[in-house]
Amino acid sequence: MADGLVKQVAKPLMKAAARGRFVQRYGPWAVVTGASSGIGEETARQLAALGLSVVLVARRRDRLEALAADLAAAHGVEVRASEHDLASPAGVEALITEVRPLDVGLLVNNAGFGMKGGFFDLSLAEQRRMIELNCQTPVALTHGLGARIVARGRGGIIFVSSTAAFQGLPTSAVYGASKGFDLLLGEAVWDELRKTGVDVLTLCPGPTDTEGPRRTGVDPDKVPVKMMQVGPVVRAALLGLGKRAVVVPGASNRVAALLTRLVPRAMATRVAGRLIRRVTGE
Ligand SMILES: NC(=O)c1ccc[n+]([C@@H]2O[C@H](COP(=O)([O-])OP(=O)(O)OC[C@H]3O[C@@H](n4cnc5c(N)ncnc54)[C@H](OP(=O)(O)O)[C@@H]3O)[C@@H](O)[C@H]2O)c1
Repeated sequence: MADGLVKQVAKPLMKAAARGRFVQRYGPWAVVTGASSGIGEETARQLAALGLSVVLVARRRDRLEALAADLAAAHGVEVRASEHDLASPAGVEALITEVRPLDVGLLVNNAGFGMKGGFFDLSLAEQRRMIELNCQTPVALTHGLGARIVARGRGGIIFVSSTAAFQGLPTSAVYGASKGFDLLLGEAVWDELRKTGVDVLTLCPGPTDTEGPRRTGVDPDKVPVKMMQVGPVVRAALLGLGKRAVVVPGASNRVAALLTRLVPRAMATRVAGRLIRRVTGE
């Protein structure tokens, strides 16, 4: 669906009867990881606007508390700031324990980060930390919280992958592989839960204007497609939940994703490598 259409359809749909159905199916509580900035923050904003109470999870407590106050005042929902380092099993366990008293109907596995550099230039410890946050954490959180959502017989789980998942990504080898892991995990869990009343969606954004890519040295002016804003990316995900297994927001990202399936894998990887070296100056 074109982005303009997503906007037009999402707003009226989500404001009227669909808003009530959304809360009924995915509420009363959503847990959003990586909610202190970027796609996670916008997800929390849109979920609160739809009427869900939200647990905001990340490490920067000040940001979470400011967002919680903002959303509670704007939408009259309960919002909790939950500070955890999710790149560790202890942080994940602490979060699962903390939200146990809440009736969680929606889990958004969004927290993640990438690094740019050659596989042998980046430290093994940092690349392992990336695998911990991007891969192990969604597995553990989905296992810990998802089982209770399945037992309720209604709800949803969102995995945030990336278009980086569609081919090897030179100079971001482990990041690309971690997002490939998320995509395959999400697709399989989608099928396993199809008849349980629990909707599973894997979101594969292309380049999106957040702190994440800027931190890794991406120059937005050199990105071959226009970087998307977080609003339409999240709207596409929430519209797709319950209807699609995988959502790639943005027409140009969908075309690029299709092309990677039509050309030999080696060619897709070489083209991706050329593009990413251009935008990061690696
Ligand atoms: N932006 C893009 O172009 C793009 C494209 C495709 C996919 N994605 C995916 O989208 C997701 C969100 O990224 P973003 O672009 O929105 O970047 P972002 O603005 O940097 O957001 C990352 C979020 O993850 C949290 N986080 C990082 N490390 C954490 C840790 N150890 N424990 C708990 N939380 C942690 C950060 O919060 P704290 O620092 O406060 O902990 C922040 O809230 C990621 O999974 C990313 O791979 C992004």
